[in-house]
Amino acid sequence: MKEYQSFIGGQWVGSQSGKTFESINPATGEINGIVAEGDEKDVDLAVKAARKAFESGPWSSMAPSDRGRLLYKVAQKLWENLDYLAETESNDNGLTINETKMIAIPAAIDVLEFYAGMANKIQGDTLASPSNRFNFTLREPIGVIGAIVPWNFPIMLTMWKLAPALAAGNTIVIKPAEQTPISILELARLMQEAGIPDGVINVVNGRGSSAGAALSSHSDVDKIAFTGSTATGKLIMRAASNNLRPVSLELGGKSPNIVFEDADIEEAVNGSLFGIYFAQGQVCAAGSRLFVQKSIYDNFIDRFVSKVESIRVGNPLDPSTQMGPQVSEQQLNVIERYVQIGQDEGAKLVTGGRRNQSLGGGFFYTPTVFTDVSNDMTIAKEEIFGPVVSIIPFTDEEDALSKANNTIYGLASGVWTNDLSRSLRMARGLNAGTVYVNTYSMLDSTAPFGGNKQSGFGRELGIEALNMYTKTKHVWVDLSKEKLNWYGF
Ligand code: NAI
Ligand code: MG
Repeated sequence: MKEYQSFIGGQWVGSQSGKTFESINPATGEINGIVAEGDEKDVDLAVKAARKAFESGPWSSMAPSDRGRLLYKVAQKLWENLDYLAETESNDNGLTINETKMIAIPAAIDVLEFYAGMANKIQGDTLASPSNRFNFTLREPIGVIGAIVPWNFPIMLTMWKLAPALAAGNTIVIKPAEQTPISILELARLMQEAGIPDGVINVVNGRGSSAGAALSSHSDVDKIAFTGSTATGKLIMRAASNNLRPVSLELGGKSPNIVFEDADIEEAVNGSLFGIYFAQGQVCAAGSRLFVQKSIYDNFIDRFVSKVESIRVGNPLDPSTQMGPQVSEQQLNVIERYVQIGQDEGAKLVTGGRRNQSLGGGFFYTPTVFTDVSNDMTIAKEEIFGPVVSIIPFTDEEDALSKANNTIYGLASGVWTNDLSRSLRMARGLNAGTVYVNTYSMLDSTAPFGGNKQSGFGRELGIEALNMYTKTKHVWVDLSKEKLNWYGF
């Protein structure tokens, strides 16, 4: 059995308490590895190591071009280990090997390359000032970043924080999710091998309520970056408020995906399938409320459901598998509870709605479709985070917009139409951080990603994210020959 320790100050160390926990492979229910379980004490050691590396290490004082060059070298190392990282992540969380190898890991490395290129493009301003003074701004790293990340895309969602943080000269402590402790440790190991100095990246596994809480309330962490549930986001914001530390929160969603009668129906069906079933529905931006215009409602559902029923569920490491297991037994239970509530509240269960027992001890569920859902049902309001779509009919643009925006969330949204003006009216009207037109769930390193309302705040990716990992310092230089003497002394 493989054992994993915490990664602190460039060293592999056991937990201070000596405690460990088992990491389960969701495809088999078997133990994947034994992992050191960190708590407050381990987090404190990691923060100290990150502080030391920030204050005295070579990282924050390195020439920005050198830092960028080193990050490119790290990215090259990750490309060389793409297959290994993809398999490790698939074993950790059950994503199919196609999802990790073709999407999640390459997207993560692309993000690293994007910010490697940004390292020497972080610049302040020379301000408009009179001839007797000189005012300029410096953009400086913030310091020690605390990153708390979830289990659905561990490496990618870590990289969204790690890459801009490192490019700007910060150091970081990462707390992975308890369900997926291994892939981020392997990422850190490879990054160290490629030359990242000790203490710049630290990884401590452990429970959210101990290690996570300790990191978010630590007085020597300068900024908290979190991706996960809205409920935990609120706890993190509260914890960070003790030290008044800035937080960025990328939380849950109940994103509307809207199909108009003038759309290409075949394309809309295919894109909407990806929008909800990609990563077994464990996507914060998932198009889990699928709005279909009444005039095409029956036709759309027929075509959608017949494709849903032919999705191949199975061993995530088999390249012909289209859907793997859910991440944990606990998530399976959540899904089952919501499917029951959906039926109790009168939605029509058209397909799925049960575990897939034929695949051994793994946490497999059958892709599920509810139709005749109304926007006020629980399954249209709450995030299920599984392969369950709620199809809701609508009449016209106004009806679609008012239903789509009637949610506590505001992460993503989709519009399928061949009417250019309509797509842009909808793009303006939708209250969400992202609007997809004639596609769904696409990401790009250049494109800011984040939510409105209870989906959080702050934008990851793109040039914009660098603002979350730098702070502005204004320098005022008095050039005048006659200096200020207000008191006339
Ligand atoms: P969670 O939000 O509780 O966990 C995410 C991370 O936060 C993990 O690293 C966890 O250890 C940490 N955490 C938990 N409690 C904490 C605390 N008090 N202080 C600091 N850190 C803490 O998510 P969980 O429980 O795994 O899943 C529950 C639901 O959350 C899912 O069903 C889904 O709806 C949503 N979720 C959303 C994600 C997204 O990408 N927006 C990702 C994962 C879950
Ligand atoms: Mg939780």
